[in-house]
Amino acid sequence: MHVLLRYFLLSVLLRTGATFQCGTCQKDGASTCTSSLQPCNAGEHSCLSRLNIDITGDKKHTRIEMGCAPPSLCNAQLIRLALGKGVYMTKVSSCCNTDSCTPPAPSEPSLNTTYNGKYCPVCFSETDPCSDKAVLSCTGPATYCFDFTILNATTHKERHIKGCATKTVCNTLKEYKGPLIGPSEIHNVICQEAKSNSSCLSLEFFLLGLLLMKTFLFSAY
Ligand SMILES: *[C@@H]1O[C@H](CO)[C@@H](O)[C@H](O)[C@H]1NC(C)=O
Ligand SMILES: *[C@@H]1O[C@H](CO)[C@@H](O)[C@H](O)[C@H]1NC(C)=O
Ligand SMILES: *[C@@H]1O[C@H](CO)[C@@H](O)[C@H](O)[C@H]1NC(C)=O
Repeated sequence: MHVLLRYFLLSVLLRTGATFQCGTCQKDGASTCTSSLQPCNAGEHSCLSRLNIDITGDKKHTRIEMGCAPPSLCNAQLIRLALGKGVYMTKVSSCCNTDSCTPPAPSEPSLNTTYNGKYCPVCFSETDPCSDKAVLSCTGPATYCFDFTILNATTHKERHIKGCATKTVCNTLKEYKGPLIGPSEIHNVICQEAKSNSSCLSLEFFLLGLLLMKTFLFSAY
C-alpha cells in the first residue's frame, strides 16, 4: 500500500513536471493578444512575450508573440538592427520561468534616428546582391557593424545580412538561437566597430586649425 502511494505521488510529480505550460498567442498589428495555455516542448522552461516592431521610413508594423521558449531566446531581451536607411527591425522580449506564468508586457524602446557619424556595410534585400560599396549611416547608439548569414530553406543558399547595431545587440546575436529573419536561424555572426565618417571630421579639424591660425596671426598684429 505504502509503495503504491509513493508510486502514485511520484507519477503525479513527473507528470506536472512534464506539462509546463505557457499562454500562447500571436497577433499582427497589435502589442497585446489573448492567450490560451499550451503545453511546452522539452527544453522550453520559460514563457516568452515578444514584441516585434518593423519600421520602414514612416511605415511601422507591430506584432506580438507569446508562448513557450528555451532560455536562449529569453537572453535576447533587445535586438534592434538598422538594415537600411530608415529601416529598423526591433524585437523586445520578456520572460518568466514558472508554470503558466505571464511574462511582463515588453514595451517599445525609443528610436533615435540621429546620425552618429559612423557607417557600416549594408545588405538586406534578397533581390539585390550585396554590393561592397553599399553603406549605411548609423544612427543613435548603434556604433557597431554586424554581419551574419541566413540559410534559405527552399533554395539552400546562404544570404548575408549587414547593417548597424549596438555592441551589446551584436554580441547578443552571437548567442542567439532561433529564427530572426524568416524561418531560418542566423549563422556566422561577426561584430566590428563601425568606421567613422572621418573625411568630414578631418575637414572640420582642418578648418578649425585654419581658424585658430588665422586668429593667432591676426592677434599678433
Ligand atoms: C541620439 O543619438 C545621437 C547620436 O548618437 C546622440 O548625440 C543623442 O544624444 C541621442 N539622443 C537621445 C535623446 O538619446
Ligand atoms: C527563399 O528563396 C525563395 C526563392 O528565391 C524566396 O521566394 C523565399 O522568400 C526565400 N525564403 C526566405 C526565408 O528568405
Ligand atoms: C558617411 O560616409 C559614407 C562613406 O563614405 C557615406 O556613404 C555616407 O553617406 C556618409 N554619411 C554621412 C551621414 O555623412
